[in-house]
Amino acid sequence: MHDFGYDVADYEDVDPVFGTLEDFDQLVAAARERGLSVLMDVVPCHTSIEHPWFREHPDWYIWADEPNNWVAAFGGSAWTELNGRYYLHSFYPEQPDLDWRNPELVAAMQDALRFWVERGIAGYRVDAIDRLLKDAELRDDPPASDPFPLPLHEEAMKLAGTHSRNAPDIGAALAKIREAVGDHLLVGEVYLPSADWQPYLEHLDAAFAFELLHSPWDAERMRAAIEASTRRPGAAWVLSNHDFGRLATRFGAENARAAALMLLTLPGPAFLYQGDEIGLGDAPAGEPSIDRFGRDRFRHPMQWDASPTGGFTSGDPWLPAVDPEGTNVEAQRDDPRSTLSLVRDLLTVRRVLGEGLELLDAADGVVAYRRGEHVVAVNTTGEERSAPLGEEVVLETGPGALRDGTLAPHAGAITMGLQHSQKG
Ligand code: GLC
Repeated sequence: MHDFGYDVADYEDVDPVFGTLEDFDQLVAAARERGLSVLMDVVPCHTSIEHPWFREHPDWYIWADEPNNWVAAFGGSAWTELNGRYYLHSFYPEQPDLDWRNPELVAAMQDALRFWVERGIAGYRVDAIDRLLKDAELRDDPPASDPFPLPLHEEAMKLAGTHSRNAPDIGAALAKIREAVGDHLLVGEVYLPSADWQPYLEHLDAAFAFELLHSPWDAERMRAAIEASTRRPGAAWVLSNHDFGRLATRFGAENARAAALMLLTLPGPAFLYQGDEIGLGDAPAGEPSIDRFGRDRFRHPMQWDASPTGGFTSGDPWLPAVDPEGTNVEAQRDDPRSTLSLVRDLLTVRRVLGEGLELLDAADGVVAYRRGEHVVAVNTTGEERSAPLGEEVVLETGPGALRDGTLAPHAGAITMGLQHSQKG
């Protein structure tokens, strides 16, 4: 729990804090009965310092006699001294990086990947995958000339990251992951702009579109991010997660429904973070955190009912619920105007949206695109806006979202039957 699960001490078991392998099997079976599949998050780039491999197979890790200038993702040197040598850690010092150039390590990790596939999972979200291979000679990173297009720790921002991640031969390591899982789904946490996705998409099914996740709630910036990430197929859409917070806080509670509408109408897989389907916000900023990077407030448990733990557990959750009386599934389940009902409707509508995406011209502050016969329009502003809207309304973010051919403030809609002359 140095990085709350991202420091794996055993790839083939469940931490007793969470339960047992039998519990896991029950979860997969219960999901299957409901027509759902389970994806797992796999962390192939580093283990916990407590993994027995670190003692028994130190040569499966990356060592140097002297540290180079690489900076860890959370700041500080990426090297820590141990018995007169230095091991590499791209994240916390308790997360030593594995050496994917070592065939024995690759074989051990392939076994771990097969273990869960054989237990019935549908595939993996692959953690921090651009860190899988780095420069074999461990050369210093050059200073950054252009700013990296996604947020990084300020110390990491100063370097170009050319050698510490995303090695030119990364495809060879990705191929080993693909080999182990067959045609099961692989979605990469590729923390790079979409222009750099190509080697990843040769082996993975999709890469998270971080340019859109990090775009502010601004139509022009969002259009540019969608445009960049749809230039080639392979975007997995995500607007919120356990590292950056939930929709209602990131974009404002008044925009949370429109954000969900956008997320679930883009082409390709979409990842909706737990809590977003009921419009849950993050816990208040400034609360003490047990995560050193301060991400606890994004990670409060799902709220099923109004009880003090939100019905998440009969035990003591390690993070408290956030206003379970105000936001919970039970209160929203049968209310057709709730965020939960909107998200359910979106999940139904998204099945019939056409292939591909065509961005449409639209008024300032409006993001609009065509998905086959359907047209999606989102007003990012607090004012009424004209927008490309078809004659038939398929779904609105709420009552009154559409008024005489305009979109209400903060509203979004899916319509059909757009006349060509009507483009915004
Ligand atoms: C990924 C995870 C993050 C974790 C890091 C190190 O970025 O999303 O939560 O801290 O990898 O494993």
